[in-house]
Amino acid sequence: MINRDKIDYVSEIKRLKKKKNVIILAHYYQTGDIQDIADFVGDSLALSQKAASNDADIILFAGVRFMAETAKILSPEKKVLLPDMNAGCSLADSCKPEDFKKFLEENPGRTVITYVNTNVDIKVLSDIICTSSNAIQIIESLPSEEKIIFAPDRNLGNYILSKTGRDIIVWNGSCHVHEEFSLEAILKLKEEFPDAKIIVHPECELPVRMVADFIGSTASLLQFTKKDNASTYIVGTEPGIIHQMKKANPLKNYIPAPPRDSTCGCSECSFMKLITMEKIYRCIRDERPEIMIDADIIIKASKPIIRMMEISEKLGL
Ligand code: 13P
Ligand code: SF4
Repeated sequence: MINRDKIDYVSEIKRLKKKKNVIILAHYYQTGDIQDIADFVGDSLALSQKAASNDADIILFAGVRFMAETAKILSPEKKVLLPDMNAGCSLADSCKPEDFKKFLEENPGRTVITYVNTNVDIKVLSDIICTSSNAIQIIESLPSEEKIIFAPDRNLGNYILSKTGRDIIVWNGSCHVHEEFSLEAILKLKEEFPDAKIIVHPECELPVRMVADFIGSTASLLQFTKKDNASTYIVGTEPGIIHQMKKANPLKNYIPAPPRDSTCGCSECSFMKLITMEKIYRCIRDERPEIMIDADIIIKASKPIIRMMEISEKLGL
């Protein structure tokens, strides 16, 4: 029997990674030790771009399932591993294909733009995929008279609507993490730290977005803290991102925005946190669990994702 205490996960993962030509792609919501062992850490857009273009034989995704599925769709010839298949996403699950098909039938003639946080059966029903890094630019790249459906996040959808003024019908889905932030607790923190800047992800609810100094994707929030001259930030997204903020500017102070229930720890994404160093080690060693998607689904789902990649490239994103 393996004595887990004796395994040095960092050196074992590094050894297996080299031996099998594996690239580890990690999202900013992963724990610090996982971000540090990864070959590339990024937001959903950057991770998709990296998944589409790398020299590895195997991609190990330290993130959630829709991200690993997107990697498989973009690099179908590669083996794509996800250390825990239960790493789902409450937002993706808030849009079920039967309901979404009905919604599309009820609102015909609209361009269907869906957030990358969707399961593959929703991607095949979409015209263009977007992420929080490129959603506004993708919508603005379309003719102004084009009518749009946006799914599944109602907060990001309403944020885009307010920024672009376009004719957009928004699906009523949400992320359990980003809707947990307490406006009152954030404002209380702001009283305590009056110089702090409030920075939040667009998946947060309107009252939280309204008090924010800056709204953006995980990568933009990180970038903001790098360039901005404040010394304290109240961070309204999953706190995993703070690892990179601290690495970039260790002397600044980053306070995670508190959830409504201060005892629940629910501003952490429980799905993202299912991935552990031990599971990554076992996953590289055994080359499973592996993401499997039927070839015809890959072909259908790749179209809206490739459209996103092409528009993003044109826009220099
Ligand atoms: P980003 O694309 O900003 O990294 O967001 C992904 C996500 O899951 C937010 O909850
Ligand atoms: Fe999904 Fe929310 Fe977790 Fe992001 S934070 S992966 S939207 S459940």
